[in-house]
Amino acid sequence: MSARSRYQRFLSGVPESMLRELVDGVDGVRHIALVMFVGETPIGVGRLMRLAGQSDTADIAITVHDAWQGRGAGAVLAEELLACAVDVRRLETVVSADNTASLRLLSRLGTAQVHPSGGTRDVTVDITARPSEQRRQTGRAPGSLRRR
Ligand SMILES: CC(C)(COP(=O)(O)OP(=O)(O)OC[C@H]1O[C@@H](n2cnc3c(N)ncnc32)[C@H](O)[C@@H]1OP(=O)(O)O)[C@@H](O)C(=O)NCCC(=O)NCCS
Repeated sequence: MSARSRYQRFLSGVPESMLRELVDGVDGVRHIALVMFVGETPIGVGRLMRLAGQSDTADIAITVHDAWQGRGAGAVLAEELLACAVDVRRLETVVSADNTASLRLLSRLGTAQVHPSGGTRDVTVDITARPSEQRRQTGRAPGSLRRR
């Protein structure tokens, strides 16, 4: 991953507690992780993490390998994550102010509100679109998905 992509994904360093959550925290319900593969090569990972005490609200975090960005992988990962958690109605996340791809991706999922917060944007999305079935039918994903 390029330094820019790493920054856009984590916005800061990766503390030990976050590393532990990313590696050990995936339980398929509270923390869902999907990996996209082209052949046997992983090209992207998406995570949906429900907020404590608010099971219908989640943070979303997607990372696509630089070489595969801009080909629809991130959008498909987001839609498939929402398809895995149909009771999640709202997303709350933070993205860097210059992360146009992420802001566009999030705005496609529903009604998005974007609040400036220094160099970042607090984004909430009330989910209205779950178009993964349509995506499946049109086969727009550049790779195949596996649930971790
Ligand atoms: C943000 C990210 C996940 C998007 O995934 P992607 O596969 O590159 O995006 P997609 O090809 O699915 O496109 C999603 C939307 O972003 C737009 N987009 C993609 N790359 C773009 C770019 N470089 N500049 C502007 N818009 C871009 C697409 O046109 C699409 O919008 P549209 O549906 O309105 O046309 C990916 O770029 C990435 O991993 N970035 C680094 C890590 C990161 O920022 N993660 C998100 C924060 S957690």
